[in-house]
Amino acid sequence: MTTLTTLQSATDPLPYLSAEYRRDPYPFYAALRAQHPVHRHPDGFWAITSYDALRNLLYDRTLGVAELDYGPAGPLHDSMLGADAPKHTRVRRTHSRWFTPKAVRTWTDITRTEVDARLDRIVADRASFDAVHDLAFPVTFATISHLLGVPDTDGTKVRQATYDIGKSLGLAPTEAEAAGTAAAFDWFVGHIEDLIADKRRRPGDGLLDAFLGFEDEGTMSHDEVIASTTLLFAVGHLDITYLIAHGIKLMAEHPEILDTYRERPDQREVIVNETLRLDTPEQFVVRTTTQPITVGGVDIPAGEVLVLFIGAGNRDPLVFDEPDTFRLDRDVDLSKHLAFGGGIHGCAGQVLARAEAHVVFTALAERFTTLELAGPVVHDHSDFIRSITALPIAVR
Ligand code: HEM
Repeated sequence: MTTLTTLQSATDPLPYLSAEYRRDPYPFYAALRAQHPVHRHPDGFWAITSYDALRNLLYDRTLGVAELDYGPAGPLHDSMLGADAPKHTRVRRTHSRWFTPKAVRTWTDITRTEVDARLDRIVADRASFDAVHDLAFPVTFATISHLLGVPDTDGTKVRQATYDIGKSLGLAPTEAEAAGTAAAFDWFVGHIEDLIADKRRRPGDGLLDAFLGFEDEGTMSHDEVIASTTLLFAVGHLDITYLIAHGIKLMAEHPEILDTYRERPDQREVIVNETLRLDTPEQFVVRTTTQPITVGGVDIPAGEVLVLFIGAGNRDPLVFDEPDTFRLDRDVDLSKHLAFGGGIHGCAGQVLARAEAHVVFTALAERFTTLELAGPVVHDHSDFIRSITALPIAVR
């Protein structure tokens, strides 16, 4: 591993195995974007880093995902994330009414109840807390569990299994990471089968119940039910925990962000967008070409893998002035940053994700004058997923 990292760093503008790159990939993106915004990487994929090309490719209906090799994460091809039309359309439709703005208001009532209960306890017990373990993760996990109609137990195991799967979706998973992913899928399948057995005995009104109804009527296969539930367990807490934790960190480091959030409700959406833009939770999405295409003047044949670095597009200086700075006066255009992807695979949970973040930030802004870092922040960034694993915060 060390040898590979060293070799890669010396020759490669995207040394994605190196600790330096994982800590802060943005200078690498900037250098590559300036020279080769459409770059054929020696590891056999195309790295796309300019905003305009990324936006066009996200909406390009000729690109696909069904032929991508997910390795041990292969079962995800039975979820909407890994499927092309018409399977994608069919599976996505089974979820849609659960993520409308009206439905989201019901789910965020759950988030709010959880946040209030946790902050009550934090205020009563102590002056500091861990914003990931005591707040962001448990409230987002409780929300997705409620949406699925399952108990919010086993959070620690769901979280670990999600991280283990995420590792295999990076650019070059190691054998150990691939083995970890296979074990994580086994665990998820067993866990979800237990939940299904329970639902068959005592039906409820959650999304998992709806999936079982679709299975019974022949609209979804059993594998699609398992894969879709696995996906929702994962995305229901992973990136949203990062959005919340990163937002709290920024508010602790820059008190004017917390003050603005409290005093200027019209600026709240800008703050969430800037948080997502500045450090995008999922750094890239991946597609394959199904026919020859030209991107930024570069011809790319059919059957190639394109890695769309949305994290790089979100720092493109041609679109965002001072791209490395959090700016409270930035354009509020919701559709501008690329953190939720776009096109047919654009994030199905983005209304929910934004609403959950606002519930947490509003509660913090209303209850506390200041948030301060109360110890070292611990990161576990991969080349794919940004992650904070410890965020000690003192409140006043
Ligand atoms: C800050 C939080 C979030 C971020 C940054 C985020 C980001 C993304 C991105 C970039 C994609 C596109 C993947 C691709 O094109 O390959 C995506 C897809 C998806 N997201 Fe999110 N997501 C977030 C939260 C959520 C939540 C809370 C849910 C649901 C509970 C969710 C459900 C989904 C689903 C189901 C897809 C697959 C859509 C499809 O393939 O049609 N996401 N998300």
